[in-house]
Amino acid sequence: MSPALSQLGRRTMEPPISWLMRTALERPGLISLAAGFTDHDSLPVDEAHALLDELLGSPNTGRPALQYGSTVGDPRLRQLTAQRLAELDPATRANYAPDQLLMTHGSQQLLYMVTEALCDPGDIVLVEDPTYFVFLGIMQSHGLCGRGIRLAADGLEVGHLEETLQSLKRSGALPQVKLLYLVTYHQNPTGRTTSFEKKAAALDLLKCYERSAGHPLYLLEDAAYRELRFIGTDIPSALAAAKAGERVIYAGTYSKPFATGARIGFGLLPKPLFKVVARIKGNHDFGTANLIQQLLSRALATGQYAKHLPVLARRYAAKAQVMDQALREHFPAQVQWARPTGGLYFWVRLPRSVKSGSTSPLFSAALASQVLYVPGEMCYVTDPARRKPNHEMRLSFGNASEADIRTGIARLGLVLQQRLARAGD
Ligand SMILES: Cc1ncc(COP(=O)(O)O)c(C=O)c1O
Repeated sequence: MSPALSQLGRRTMEPPISWLMRTALERPGLISLAAGFTDHDSLPVDEAHALLDELLGSPNTGRPALQYGSTVGDPRLRQLTAQRLAELDPATRANYAPDQLLMTHGSQQLLYMVTEALCDPGDIVLVEDPTYFVFLGIMQSHGLCGRGIRLAADGLEVGHLEETLQSLKRSGALPQVKLLYLVTYHQNPTGRTTSFEKKAAALDLLKCYERSAGHPLYLLEDAAYRELRFIGTDIPSALAAAKAGERVIYAGTYSKPFATGARIGFGLLPKPLFKVVARIKGNHDFGTANLIQQLLSRALATGQYAKHLPVLARRYAAKAQVMDQALREHFPAQVQWARPTGGLYFWVRLPRSVKSGSTSPLFSAALASQVLYVPGEMCYVTDPARRKPNHEMRLSFGNASEADIRTGIARLGLVLQQRLARAGD
């Protein structure tokens, strides 16, 4: 490693996402049930083509779109995004002011900048156990410590959050705690959705511990999969909890529900934090690609965006059904999973005797059979209070075709039967 590197440069490890993508690319014929990529066939090519034609059809609209924009984002897109959020949570219109909305390069950029704005090396972030593994990469790179909060079917275990805060207070570490990060809709990786009551209870708890922490404790609500629901009804965001506007950072994205290649995300931030994160964004890129923001703006204004959502819901419902059916047919009876109501993932739990990590015989055997999954272990933060579980896997039905989902699960099922037979289960 070069001695010229900064501490951050030295510390930053290769993110698992890069390794997973490379593994998939290096093996032609491999069926990847690992990538969080979206469905290829339903990407809105015709719609985007027509919208871009309109936009670039006249110098009056084309030239501004091909020019730099502003750091905080396209004013029309900010306004339309605020409107869209207010439609999702009608009770909280006041919390969705466009001037608190920051348009970003995917919601990933927002997660990065918020972490950078709030945390110094050694600080502590509370995360769901398991959580979105790319966020764990941001934490690792910034030298942050984590505590995992156990998950129930309807979101985090509030009792465990309280126990954790209490123990951090006892040990004098509460001032290092900066935020609680929750992926609240069809969570990546478990597919679980957090009930509104739990979001409100978590916020109340954070508030209780603020005095001992000596500063605000924020809830970073990552709603990346909110609009990828195919069963049930929407749940209000944490912003709907009383006075929550003060403490909730809401991260949203147009990647998953429209086009991952467009990569437009956004954040709704409490005012004092908005200013700081906008300054950081000014240094990062002083504005997200203007042309693509204007494409999204048109997609929202013309209703194309809203029209696309039910198309996606039908498509993912069908793919989830195919995966569920294949799991029933090919996976051993001891394996457990729950059928998701949205998002892109199944979270599969194996008997504890069967390890699923990236160095396990199961993972190698799966690769040899040309199928890739995300080892569950990657989704757990390093937490001194427990060992990382190593018997789970995340399977995505997002990108693979229905035929590949069937074949991939059949291959994985066979490998699992063989491993279980060896483990003597
Ligand atoms: C939970 C979660 N949050 C955020 C993101 C980032 O998405 P984007 O940057 O495309 O908005 C992803 C992408 O997979 C995700 O799964």
